[in-house]
Amino acid sequence: MNLIVVNHYEELSQKAAEIIEQLIQSHPASILGLATGSTPIGLYQELIKRYQQGAISFEKVRTINLDEYIGLAEDHPQSYHAFMKKHLFDEIAIPKEQTHLPNGNASFLDEECLRYERLIEKIGPADVQLLGIGSNGHIGFNEPGSSFSSETHVIKLAQSTREANARFFHSVDEVPSHAITMGIASILKSKKILLLASGPSKTAALRRLLQQKKEEAFPASVLCSHPHVTLIADREAWADL
Ligand code: GLP
Repeated sequence: MNLIVVNHYEELSQKAAEIIEQLIQSHPASILGLATGSTPIGLYQELIKRYQQGAISFEKVRTINLDEYIGLAEDHPQSYHAFMKKHLFDEIAIPKEQTHLPNGNASFLDEECLRYERLIEKIGPADVQLLGIGSNGHIGFNEPGSSFSSETHVIKLAQSTREANARFFHSVDEVPSHAITMGIASILKSKKILLLASGPSKTAALRRLLQQKKEEAFPASVLCSHPHVTLIADREAWADL
């Protein structure tokens, strides 16, 4: 794992944006695996800046997101569809048909999971997959105990994840109980993985990640078996590691 420790969140966002910028400049039709959560917001702002300055174009880029809540309307402010529109897609003139998220409102969720996995196979693998890390080690919404061979599937969210994400809702009861997530095997198909960790709430998860002990009880530990992972952590997350 290639490790980059930076001083603060702004630097983390800039460093990550540089990597994506270089990728798009060298390969304008890049496939980007995107993530939600607070962590990549600064990176998305940096990408918007670089787009506005004319340094990069998203005209040919295609995106595949990791996950989506089940049961939130696409235009619900906390759906990941709405998140991506607000934080990136609406600002970079990317054709809508080139952006992909699972449909958390599909009538037949198993079929939707299959459709999404086929899509990943068809347009993927992602040149780079962005990842945040849950404090319990989840990646995407693959909660502890998720099979390392899992493909896109429906997952029941851990109570700790619902509590962590309750800050975006009025109360924890409003946080959906289930989501569709790319599986761990789907994520590992990506050519490169860019894992971002910011703030003291991520230190314990990073400590466990660095032990390099692959176990399904800690989903992010699977990353030690991927050949091209870059972890960018800020000093608050890295602490005394
Ligand atoms: C969410 C997302 C993950 C994200 C993680 C951490 O539940 N499904 O993709 O990486 O939690 O989020 P944050 O960056 O807000 O800490």
